[in-house]
Amino acid sequence: MSKRIQGIRGMNDILPDQTALWQYIEQKVTLVLQQYGYQEIRLPILESTELFKRSVGEVTDIVEKEMYTFDDRNGDSVTLRPEGTAGCVRAGEQHGLFYNQQQRLWYRGPMFRYERPQKGRYRQFHQMGVEAFGMAGAEIDAELILLSQRLWTALGIAPWATLQLNTIGSSESRKQFGGALLAYLSEHKSELDGDSQRRLDNNPLRILDSKDPNTQALLDDGPSLSDFIDDESKAHFEQLCTILDRGGVDYQVNPRLVRGLDYYGKTVFEWVTDKLGAQGTICAGGRYDGLVSHLGGKPTPAVGFAIGLERLALLVEQLDLKSEIDSTMDVYILPLVPEAVAEAAALGEALRSQLPQLKVLNHCGGGSVKSQMKKADKSGAQWALIIGDEEIQQNKIILKSLRSQEPQLNMTRDEIVSKLQSFNS
Ligand code: HAM
Repeated sequence: MSKRIQGIRGMNDILPDQTALWQYIEQKVTLVLQQYGYQEIRLPILESTELFKRSVGEVTDIVEKEMYTFDDRNGDSVTLRPEGTAGCVRAGEQHGLFYNQQQRLWYRGPMFRYERPQKGRYRQFHQMGVEAFGMAGAEIDAELILLSQRLWTALGIAPWATLQLNTIGSSESRKQFGGALLAYLSEHKSELDGDSQRRLDNNPLRILDSKDPNTQALLDDGPSLSDFIDDESKAHFEQLCTILDRGGVDYQVNPRLVRGLDYYGKTVFEWVTDKLGAQGTICAGGRYDGLVSHLGGKPTPAVGFAIGLERLALLVEQLDLKSEIDSTMDVYILPLVPEAVAEAAALGEALRSQLPQLKVLNHCGGGSVKSQMKKADKSGAQWALIIGDEEIQQNKIILKSLRSQEPQLNMTRDEIVSKLQSFNS
């Protein structure tokens, strides 16, 4: 026997018994996005490498060590998208979507990062992303947060999600803070972890993300970003907090929250949960007013977030959703003899036409009555519709309950349709 080929580490199959949950989540999310007037944009998975270097930033974990980058057959460097914002900005700019217009967009699909796989962290994962362009005021930042909160409520996980919020100010204020941080940390260089030492010269702000306890302790005594925030960003943040307070959104201001991608300025936020272990961020985003012009367009204010769908699924599956997620069949049709096969197929088609909500499974592959009934039972169906020799002669069908002791009935097709009417809602 030849060797079985395995899937790639960190890239998961989503099997049929999980897809019902995914579809349930995706439907709920799509409905909320429609409520707020967001339109779907579908974007390529492969983009030029340069796009991510310029947007996410050269000195970030994603670009430095996590991208799936290769030369295509023409020798051009391409990358499997590690996130969706860069491609969305690229597409919007390329097709003139930002020209004198506001846009509320969303996308969904696989993203790729070469990270160390663990629960909630994968090399291929899925995001649902939302991006709003052309709106500079804090009301759109607030709209996105209110929208995300509505999602958690719709999915029944609101009590498990906490909002962390911060402002990282203008690029000038970050530059000044970066200078102060560099001066302070340079005096303690030898006490920093390896990654942070390396980042000291090219991107000191990234050091705030360090998980190393010694580095964190050093940072506690160092300069604080909140002391460097410019007045405009402060006012923006205050306005955002006012709207969130009025909207009944609870949040924690976390002055250490800086995010791991370079394009952010002003608002940043993360929704976190303690129900998923180490990978507890289910949704993250912020404002990125500089990105469109940085990628060659006209200055366009923008803000957005992305949800990690695997993490959301891990959270939602902790609820009891049996009644909401029902992929079992309603009816199982059994042709007991080969002569009944055509009649069974025709019956299935007629039921699907007349009762479009009904879930009908046609038995395939013949077999004894016993083996067919076993499969009917396993399908979870409420009813078996049985056609044997006699039924063909009489132009009737046997209706048998698979879940109760009700006596079986001999019925015409029309009688069956009215009997099953209740399933059609
Ligand atoms: P991000 O924080 O890199 O932001 O990712 C957003 C979310 O994607 C995370 O909070 C997490 O739920 C999920 N995620 C990230 N990496 C993984 C992974 N390896 N495995 C499973 N889930 C993961 C962005 O991607 C930005 N583009 C968000 C954004 C949109 N900002 C503005 N607009």
